[in-house]
Amino acid sequence: MRVLVTGGAGYIGSHCALLLHERGHEVWVLDSLENGHAKALAGFLPPERLIRADLAEQHRVEHALMAHRVEAVLHFAAFALVGESVIRPDKYWNNNVAGTLSLLGAMRRAGVGRLVFSSTAAVYGEPQQVPIPENHPKAPCNPYGRTKLVMEEALADHAAAFDMGVTALRYFNAAGCDPEGRLGEDHEPETHLVPLAVRAVLNPGKPFRIFGDDWSTPDGTCIRDLVHVTDLAEAHVLALDAIRPGTMRRYNLGNGEGHSVRQVLDAVGRVAGRPVPAEVAPRRAGDPAVLVADSSLVRAELGWKPRYPDLDSMVGTAWKWLSTHPRGYAN
Ligand SMILES: NC(=O)c1ccc[n+]([C@@H]2O[C@H](COP(=O)([O-])OP(=O)(O)OC[C@H]3O[C@@H](n4cnc5c(N)ncnc54)[C@H](O)[C@@H]3O)[C@@H](O)[C@H]2O)c1
Repeated sequence: MRVLVTGGAGYIGSHCALLLHERGHEVWVLDSLENGHAKALAGFLPPERLIRADLAEQHRVEHALMAHRVEAVLHFAAFALVGESVIRPDKYWNNNVAGTLSLLGAMRRAGVGRLVFSSTAAVYGEPQQVPIPENHPKAPCNPYGRTKLVMEEALADHAAAFDMGVTALRYFNAAGCDPEGRLGEDHEPETHLVPLAVRAVLNPGKPFRIFGDDWSTPDGTCIRDLVHVTDLAEAHVLALDAIRPGTMRRYNLGNGEGHSVRQVLDAVGRVAGRPVPAEVAPRRAGDPAVLVADSSLVRAELGWKPRYPDLDSMVGTAWKWLSTHPRGYAN
């Protein structure tokens, strides 16, 4: 299939672009490179297949879809920093909502009717039950989560009215890097648990900050459901094959197993051969104590089965790339 991957120079998008390429799809990437890295794609994507453009440039997006006869879009492009979304909601609503609506307009005019959308566990807010099923009440507690939830609703309306096939995948905490070491995670600023822990080992002057160790969890630190980025990519490939016109599907993507922040730090310490320097900081507003996915729906309907569900694989593949690329893709 000819597939356009928006945000394909970013962390999850690049892993997905690589997997699609390996499975024989014709991959095009559209990325503003505001947060992505052209270098991530250099090993497998011909340079002309990376279109440097913004979602808001609707005519360019439409032209790219038509010129390359794109059949489906995997839409990763968004801003994804929860804290930043609180102080700059304008930026998030513009990009994640207006940007996605612009993409949808371009798709409609170009006659592209298949879309896989990157959604998030942040649509649920504070969980009322764990593991969290898809029909759990949605009460996002930050602008980032609200932009994703509102786009899910807009996508459902588009699917019904324009006969589009849409799948929204709600990732829990993406972690790990390509197991063969070809791709990594390079965010600035970095806010994710595993790379922050690895960086704390590599730069001992900057300890890892544990946001609260007095939560009502067994070791007092927050619990998260980490899911390997390559397993997320696999779910996109499965979703793409299963999309049906006029239908909107929503699936959680997590392993259904929670790991506490301290357990993650211990795992990083094991693989690094030395402990992660860490300090306890106050809790952050809006952080749920426990976030764990019920992913039985995607397993049953799409046959998704994570290949790297264990913490050591996620941490080990992250360590492999991050420790050999201390300056990220600038190395
Ligand atoms: N990383 C996670 O744990 C996680 C969890 C849940 C959901 N998500 C979602 O998954 C998607 C990918 O996340 P990521 O961690 O890979 O982020 P990322 O920042 O690494 O990648 C996003 C990419 O999109 C590009 N981009 C952003 N706005 C754009 C625009 N207007 N036009 C063109 N390109 C644009 C950026 O340059 C970047 O390359 C996002 O939609 C995010 O909300 C991520």
